Amino acid sequence: MTDNTRVVLSSDHSAIGLRQAIAAHIAAQGWTVVDIGPTTPESTPYPEHGAAAARRVADGDCRFGIILCGTGQGIMMAANKVKGVRCGVCADTFSSRMIRQHNDANMLALGARVIGEGLALDLVDAFLTAPFDGGRHAARVEMIKALEG
Ligand code: RB5
Repeated sequence: MTDNTRVVLSSDHSAIGLRQAIAAHIAAQGWTVVDIGPTTPESTPYPEHGAAAARRVADGDCRFGIILCGTGQGIMMAANKVKGVRCGVCADTFSSRMIRQHNDANMLALGARVIGEGLALDLVDAFLTAPFDGGRHAARVEMIKALEG
């Protein structure tokens, strides 16, 4: 059974500092941080890191995932290839909240070259605290799952 306090974090080389700031921020809130790196600044491909985090969420090891690359876009695309993952890239708090409320997203992608740390932490807070609304949105999420094959 998934421990609902566990949040996996990963990034490519472009976002190590922001990822570590997010890790400290959510750990202070009581989340159990599973930071799977990387920790060294060498260039490293975002698809590997997005997929590694996505597998932690898809297999139930972690309730949520937060992943980062330069834009957030590439790592989001990789994560969404893993069955069971619904990941959105956000740069506004409304969207970060709504991907939980309407889309039951289980991963959030951020662009470290797009947003600053203050906004990133707000986006993370919105994502981690918003509940899924269910209701009419549940049927639509089921339609997304049906596309996974
Ligand atoms: C790496 O330079 C960069 O391409 C990557 O971080 C990301 O922005 C890709 O989507």
